[in-house]
Amino acid sequence: MKYLVIGAGGLIGSRFVELSKKGDKILSPTEKKLDITNGTSVAKYFKQNKDKFDVVINFAAYTNVDGAERQRGNKKGIVWRINVDGAKNVAEACQKYGKFLIHISTDFVFPGTKEKPGPYSESAKLPEKMGGIAWYGWTKLVGERKVKNANKYVAIVRTAYPFRAALYKQKLDFARNILSLYDDAKLYPMFADQKMTPVFIDDLVKVLKKIVRLKKGGVYHVVTSDSTTPYEFASYLLEKARGVKGVVKKGSMEDFLKAPGRTPRPSLGVLDSRKTQKILGMRFRTWKQVVNEFVRQLKE
Ligand SMILES: NC(=O)c1ccc[n+]([C@@H]2O[C@H](COP(=O)([O-])OP(=O)(O)OC[C@H]3O[C@@H](n4cnc5c(N)ncnc54)[C@H](OP(=O)(O)O)[C@@H]3O)[C@@H](O)[C@H]2O)c1
Repeated sequence: MKYLVIGAGGLIGSRFVELSKKGDKILSPTEKKLDITNGTSVAKYFKQNKDKFDVVINFAAYTNVDGAERQRGNKKGIVWRINVDGAKNVAEACQKYGKFLIHISTDFVFPGTKEKPGPYSESAKLPEKMGGIAWYGWTKLVGERKVKNANKYVAIVRTAYPFRAALYKQKLDFARNILSLYDDAKLYPMFADQKMTPVFIDDLVKVLKKIVRLKKGGVYHVVTSDSTTPYEFASYLLEKARGVKGVVKKGSMEDFLKAPGRTPRPSLGVLDSRKTQKILGMRFRTWKQVVNEFVRQLKE
């Protein structure tokens, strides 16, 4: 398969590239060569390279949730320009050149509040108003809408709390952060009242490849088949990876979010992936199974 991978230097995109087969041809331009916020740059890149790829995966995004919040409401800011305008530019170019597009999105498009809690199915209605959604989530939501409007041939893949065993030096993922905090004796209490569905990035990559083989558009949820809490996840992970029990203290996300100046986050943001599994004929692993796999790979 011939891919154009945008955001190939990121946490998820780089693992996609690492796990691709020798037979796959991958174009992975840096932001300098293909800046998705610049419609002219995108159009030019597609025109010049259109024969070198059939499928586009857009992993590029502004992903720093707290950083994004500082630009709340700013449609000229870099968060909007990447997550909304950039997503649209890529979708339009794919539509123009008939390329199958996978656009990556997030559980942060849902409020995940007590009033409107998950689990959210693939067909769950997205909020019409920003309300208490983080700016990051809102820009990803508007990005999804723009992508759908621009392109009939698109798969939108929502995922959450990605982690990988293969080292990624630029940032710590959800699981590695817990290990690092524990190793540095800085482990803080983990939320016991937050419900979430993480994803092992290697599993996500397999699912993306399957979607590419089927070339079937729609909305997909790619996460573990069951949900957990950060407290439960951290306790199990530390038991398996470090052989310690009872070292994690319980924290409350509800209390944490009450403090002034906090960025809103889904505390009940579970993604339901049953429809995705059915459509793709795949069975996703449970969160404990993927922690086991993560630890196995770490020890290799
Ligand atoms: N990480 C999470 O917790 C998480 C959870 C759920 C969903 N997601 C979604 O998964 C996708 C990938 O996330 P990630 O964590 O792998 O992201 P990441 O590590 O932050 O990487 C983002 C990538 O986007 C590139 N990029 C930024 N601005 C660009 C631009 N203007 N033009 C072209 N490329 C640009 C970056 O390149 P440079 O490094 O060169 O700037 C980087 O390679 C995103 O859509 C994100 O919303 C992430």
